[in-house]
Amino acid sequence: MSVTNFPGGSNPTPPGTPITIVPTSKVTMPALGEMKRQGKPICALTAYDYSTSRLADEAGVDLILVGDSLAMVVLGHENTLAVTVDEMLHHTRAVRRAVRRALLVADMPFGSYHGTVAEGVANAVRFVKEAGAEAVKIEGPRVELVRAMSEAEIPVVGHLGLTPQSIRSADAALELKADAHALAQAGAGALVLEGVPREVAAAITAELPIPTIGIGAGPDCDGQILVFHDMVGLTFAPAAKFVRRYADAGALIRTAIEQYRDDVEHRAFPSDEESYHLPEAARRALEATVKTGTLRKV
Ligand code: KIV
Repeated sequence: MSVTNFPGGSNPTPPGTPITIVPTSKVTMPALGEMKRQGKPICALTAYDYSTSRLADEAGVDLILVGDSLAMVVLGHENTLAVTVDEMLHHTRAVRRAVRRALLVADMPFGSYHGTVAEGVANAVRFVKEAGAEAVKIEGPRVELVRAMSEAEIPVVGHLGLTPQSIRSADAALELKADAHALAQAGAGALVLEGVPREVAAAITAELPIPTIGIGAGPDCDGQILVFHDMVGLTFAPAAKFVRRYADAGALIRTAIEQYRDDVEHRAFPSDEESYHLPEAARRALEATVKTGTLRKV
């Protein structure tokens, strides 16, 4: 296992690494609101573990979401329903250890906010107290729950949409807009719009006092979010229309593993340079045992 440290530690940036200027100030929910007012796009990304969330944070991503998509892209479930509060807490803690600048948002999994409002708030408190989340995200127009969480001083990100085919009429669009306004009034600090026609997302973004963060909702939202594994090509099914692949990490990793397996099979790994060696005197003493059968102390 290799051990890495945060900047300032013993890990200098490798030569040739492109330098990007990343703002250093901590991102908070009010800061996202300020970005909306200034017309500055918000960059959000999902992450589920220490290494990828550290890379995302150091690359200047503003909001890191430990999404319940974890169930599918990390744990291999068919859908997101199976992931538990304990699993989400476990991954949120790992991300917490890495993230310094971005706003850390934890997705509340299915079942954790579908009972009473009090149960929902109690589960949200766990994400803040036990895992260090700075906000929680919940799906649907759960206005009373968002209000209760805000009153309990838990920052909340709302999440609407999910079924673009269902928003094909003006009435459906108006209903979505009404839900978005209700969540904002109840205290949501930001709103994820998923799979929403561009025109509807643009209208909601223009009207809402809080930032919208789109995924499959067109370019007019205040920010964008993608699932990390989709963005870097680490998924095994065809990507949705809205996904842009910025890397083919799947191909890169597959080739690396095949090369490693080949090297092991041909005894080409490890080399002598990749091996530890005894000091000269100890080596000679050890060699002598081969001849004499006894080890001389050095
Ligand atoms: O779980 C998730 O990754 C999400 C994104 C689709 C926003 O909720």
